[in-house]
Amino acid sequence: MNNLPYIPGSAPFTLEQRAWLNGYLAGLFADANVGEIATRPGSSLEEKKTEPLLVMYGSQTGTAEKLAKRLAKEAEKRGFAPRVMELNAYASVDFSSEHRFLIVTSTWGDGDPPDNAAAFWQHLNSHTAPRLDHLSYSVLALGDKNYSDFCGAGKKFDERLEQLGARRIHPRADCDVDYETTAKQWMEGLWPALEKVGQASRLSPIAKEPAEIAGPGFSELLLSTGSEPGQVPDAHYGRNHLFPARLIANRKLNAAGSAKDTRHLEISLERSGLSYEVGDALGVMPANCPALVNDLLQALGCDGEEAVSDARGRETSLRQALLTSYQITQPSTDLLRILSERSDDAELKSLLAPARRADLDKFLDGREVIDFLSNFPAVTFTPAEFVTLLSRLQPRLYSIASSPKAHPGEVHLTVAVVRYESHDRRRQGVCSTFLAERVEINRTPLPVFVQTSHSFRLPSDGDRPVIMIGPGTGIAPFRAFLEERRAIGANGRNWLFFGDQCQAHDFLYCEELEAMLAGGTLTRLDTAFSRDQSEKIYVQHRMLENAGGFWTWLEDGAHVYVCGDAKRMAKDVDAALHEVIRKAGGKSPEQAAEYVQKLKTEKRYQRDVY
Ligand SMILES: Cc1cc2nc3c(=O)[nH]c(=O)nc-3n(C[C@H](O)[C@H](O)[C@H](O)COP(=O)(O)OP(=O)(O)OC[C@H]3O[C@@H](n4cnc5c(N)ncnc54)[C@H](O)[C@@H]3O)c2cc1C
Ligand SMILES: Cc1cc2nc3c(=O)[nH]c(=O)nc-3n(C[C@H](O)[C@H](O)[C@H](O)COP(=O)(O)O)c2cc1C
Repeated sequence: MNNLPYIPGSAPFTLEQRAWLNGYLAGLFADANVGEIATRPGSSLEEKKTEPLLVMYGSQTGTAEKLAKRLAKEAEKRGFAPRVMELNAYASVDFSSEHRFLIVTSTWGDGDPPDNAAAFWQHLNSHTAPRLDHLSYSVLALGDKNYSDFCGAGKKFDERLEQLGARRIHPRADCDVDYETTAKQWMEGLWPALEKVGQASRLSPIAKEPAEIAGPGFSELLLSTGSEPGQVPDAHYGRNHLFPARLIANRKLNAAGSAKDTRHLEISLERSGLSYEVGDALGVMPANCPALVNDLLQALGCDGEEAVSDARGRETSLRQALLTSYQITQPSTDLLRILSERSDDAELKSLLAPARRADLDKFLDGREVIDFLSNFPAVTFTPAEFVTLLSRLQPRLYSIASSPKAHPGEVHLTVAVVRYESHDRRRQGVCSTFLAERVEINRTPLPVFVQTSHSFRLPSDGDRPVIMIGPGTGIAPFRAFLEERRAIGANGRNWLFFGDQCQAHDFLYCEELEAMLAGGTLTRLDTAFSRDQSEKIYVQHRMLENAGGFWTWLEDGAHVYVCGDAKRMAKDVDAALHEVIRKAGGKSPEQAAEYVQKLKTEKRYQRDVY
């Protein structure tokens, strides 16, 4: 049965608003026939083997972890005895007695393994790395084709295991953000390969190239749902089944005169059955900006009523597809390729050569689909063809800024609204402006899911000291941590480093933080406002100024958390942490690196950076 949410005639909307919203809901919450990975019929199930199977994952925000657990469940159904753990737990594994080994890993930074896989990567590259000649393995890599080192971590593990003598029994699969189909296909090929382990002589050589299979992804997995926003009872909502939540508050956190627009958003999860823990993130599926859709329609010479397929292959209008189904800002490589061929543009053709990926990235900076349509007016597309050249619209993640103990039934976010100008056009981040400007309080359904993040958790021991470094929107999970520690009466000390541009305009949650300081929840608060003096001061400078205290807290067993910008801040803070340990702890650079590695292994150095 298709119980699509819809806006009833009695709702306080104009006809046009209602039509738009109903189309939006139909697009978002449509049925899909994709479910759990099917159990293959065959002898393996009945045989009920219990061969051990080691499944290890590297995951920053939980996607690879979830897939690894799903993989293990499926393996169990097929008679294997799987154990699942993060890659950094390698010390608890006796690899000499393992025979079947699967890695599921995402990629972070610039082609790096996630934090909970980094120690294993180092181990595999150290002089103590074991020979793995007896080991049969396969790798499932998760990544994002927008990054130049696509699935870099998965590729590295795959190669290194082979160098150490392990036998690849099934080719690696490299999954783009739409990982479902590729992962499913990889798993289907995996089972027969695993069953043959031990019968090596009968195996044919394994292809070295990964299986890259394009296919339907996230939005295809949306399942049908109930009625109006926030009114859907008894459903199991998750990443594949979005909950139409209700926005209940939208407050600007920056004072007038700030160069920034950061929002505090409150979302009701009432009657969703959804729960979360501090450290988790909320996934939000946005709709594109209607004004940009109009510009695209004009550039295409269309009125929007043309019939096309949406990203799930369902017939809809071009306008609706552009609003809710496709990514209409960053161009796909397919679109660029067709444009280069049809325009015969030498520069674009040259930039699309694989060796020029870095130049292409630079060229694409600040350029969107609309720019290419405007710059190549002679290149024309049918509406149906045009949508096939677009990528699927993807959900965005936001670190949760509230504790469910302090705000039952609600989830709070801290969102920096992305607006900038480039190539003479004003640009808008899809999801941040959707949340800040286009979702109406208590009206527009807001499709969300909870993304569990086991690798960003407060210590279970409430007496442990905690150091939090979160400039800008990096403050979000720390507001949640502090609320949580206050709610459970944790006695451990809490030290927060916060930074932004100007104290007068950009001290996010200033009053709440000062109240927490006065009330004793927050033990120390150090701030760095980069533009309040002639020289730039950032959180890493405050860490170094307080190196002695920082070191004492570390030696007292403090857990260190970093959240916010991955490109610069997280790297600078990491360097500052090493320097604190060197200077205040009297360590050599090598000893400091070992100390940091130990912190990571003990889960006392956790990062939520993006
Ligand atoms: C685990 C995790 C947690 C996160 N938590 C938060 C959070 O708590 N708060 C938060 O605000 N965000 C958070 N983010 C980031 C968030 O998911 C989105 O990426 C962010 O809101 C931008 O999305 P958007 O759709 O608005 O922008 P998009 O439409 O995705 O546009 C962003 C893109 O625009 C381009 N761009 C942006 N500025 C410029 C510029 N000046 N010049 C040229 N190009 C530019 C860049 O290509 C950039 O990638 C988190 C991300 C992750 C992965
Ligand atoms: C800050 C950041 C850096 C990333 N770097 C890469 C990268 O270099 N290569 C890549 O293929 N994917 C990259 N990704 C994409 C992630 O690997 C992808 O989203 C993955 O599904 C996340 O899985 P996880 O939740 O298990 O960590 C990056 C994502 C973020 C947010």
